[in-house]
Amino acid sequence: MASRRLSALRAVVFAFLPLSVCSAASAACPGAEEHSLPLPSSLPKSALLEFQKTLFDFLDHRTYDTMLHWCPDKGVRDTGPFKDGVYYGTHPAVRIFYSPKLIAWLEGDRLGPIPDGAMMVKEQYRPPAARYANLSPDEVTARFAADGKDWTIMIRDAKGSADGWYWSELFTGMSFDSYAPPFNVFNGGFGLYCTRCHGAAEKVGTFAALENIKGYPGTPITYDVDDSWKKAVAPVPSHAPSAPLSSAVTWIAPAAGSAKSTLPVTSQPSVGDFLRVYEPLAQAGHDIVRREGSRV
Ligand code: HEC
Repeated sequence: MASRRLSALRAVVFAFLPLSVCSAASAACPGAEEHSLPLPSSLPKSALLEFQKTLFDFLDHRTYDTMLHWCPDKGVRDTGPFKDGVYYGTHPAVRIFYSPKLIAWLEGDRLGPIPDGAMMVKEQYRPPAARYANLSPDEVTARFAADGKDWTIMIRDAKGSADGWYWSELFTGMSFDSYAPPFNVFNGGFGLYCTRCHGAAEKVGTFAALENIKGYPGTPITYDVDDSWKKAVAPVPSHAPSAPLSSAVTWIAPAAGSAKSTLPVTSQPSVGDFLRVYEPLAQAGHDIVRREGSRV
């Protein structure tokens, strides 16, 4: 019943996308319109999981480009150097689209707060950007679809958390966040690991700059890229942090000599295996467990 209600919510939210509100368009992207996705902080926690699917539909249709005509970057660009066959970017190669509210903030010299709902959609590409240098925007888009679509996005939502952004990575073939086993690390939400780097931005957690954006003066940020990529097999965008957690985590095995010392050390154990880690520990009664905050 509850899930049927949520699906209905999703259908309603998505149905409203074409009717998005027109906001002050910039000279660079005259036809651009704001999206009408709900603010994540306005949704109950259970609906946040459904929101992720709505967001996926929004991205998968490339609504930000095909229907809302958001300002894009001047082209695909790197986020770090590529040397001797190794890419050192903070993200894969990227092409970012900016909603009108975000553009208005950038045009206003990045002063004052970013309005709620402002959004950036970052398409992620196999690095380095030099692979796409001679392609038209449509050819780049075709490559994006052919290689498997992958986005990281930011939605401004000041009430949601201290840093005021909803963060998410979404990609073709992903499994959506859920509270069911095996309890994968969430790909979308507030206060995600993204803040580790974005907290270093000069202000409001974003590195966005007009120089990178089509229609504005200036040269987009570039990095040293040698010719080694022409031979090297560059990695496809990874979906950290879930990939390392599911494949490379070393789990703590019970003490040596314990009958339960057979936990796998390089693969993710089942929930049952995980809980058995605690079996060798002595049980503690209520009387000897100190409650958090207790002075005794
Ligand atoms: C390892 C550091 C790092 C992590 C972790 C990281 N980012 Fe970024 N991100 C950056 C840097 C640096 C840029 C700016 C790149 C540039 O313009 O060269 C950026 C740019 C972006 C942009 C374009 C807007 C902007 O601020 O420039 C988006 C959107 C984005 N990141 C989303 C995310 C999301 C969502 C996550 C988490 C799922 C995340 N990032 C995790 C470092 C990071």
